Amino acid sequence: MPRKKTQRLKTKHKEKKTTNRDILEEIIRVDHAGEYGATKIYDGQIAIFGKNSKIGKTIQHMADQEQEHIEKFNELILEHHVRPTALLPLWNIAGFTLGATTALMGKKAAMACTVAVEKVIGEHYRKQQSLLEDDHIELKKTIYKFEKDELEHHDIGIAHDAEQTPGYKVLSKFIEIGCKTAIAVSKKI
Ligand SMILES: [Fe+2]
Ligand SMILES: [Fe+2]
Repeated sequence: MPRKKTQRLKTKHKEKKTTNRDILEEIIRVDHAGEYGATKIYDGQIAIFGKNSKIGKTIQHMADQEQEHIEKFNELILEHHVRPTALLPLWNIAGFTLGATTALMGKKAAMACTVAVEKVIGEHYRKQQSLLEDDHIELKKTIYKFEKDELEHHDIGIAHDAEQTPGYKVLSKFIEIGCKTAIAVSKKI
């Protein structure tokens, strides 16, 4: 093989894979939107149950983690110059309404809401990690950590009898579809 060609091949081999900029923006935009929505869902539930009730304290633990998540994505939005979704006002109302409505249906329904949301978000975070290359290893680690937190919330919901909610399957499907739609829309808009 001529020397030049061999050199070119070697250089090519060493090149680090980089994350596509559009994908990076979509990841940060949609996660920022989702974490914002999550804080609103728990706000809605705590507004109904009160933070001093037993269930309120359990929810507050998850809400505190969501607060950490949104703060991190607030930083990332600025650091990477990503435009936030234009739909934040909608996620504010939709999140709070979902939280408050499920809480009004009862403790189990509130937990069923958490299970459905966190199931979708957990899967979403897992998929995202495979889209990030070595140039965004820190973000990948952050998303990995948040995925674990979301799955912990999911398990808390299960442990609090979410599955015993009357109409659990229908309610879960309804919330899961809502979350998936919100994810699809918030990536782009
Ligand atoms: Fe979160
Ligand atoms: Fe969560």
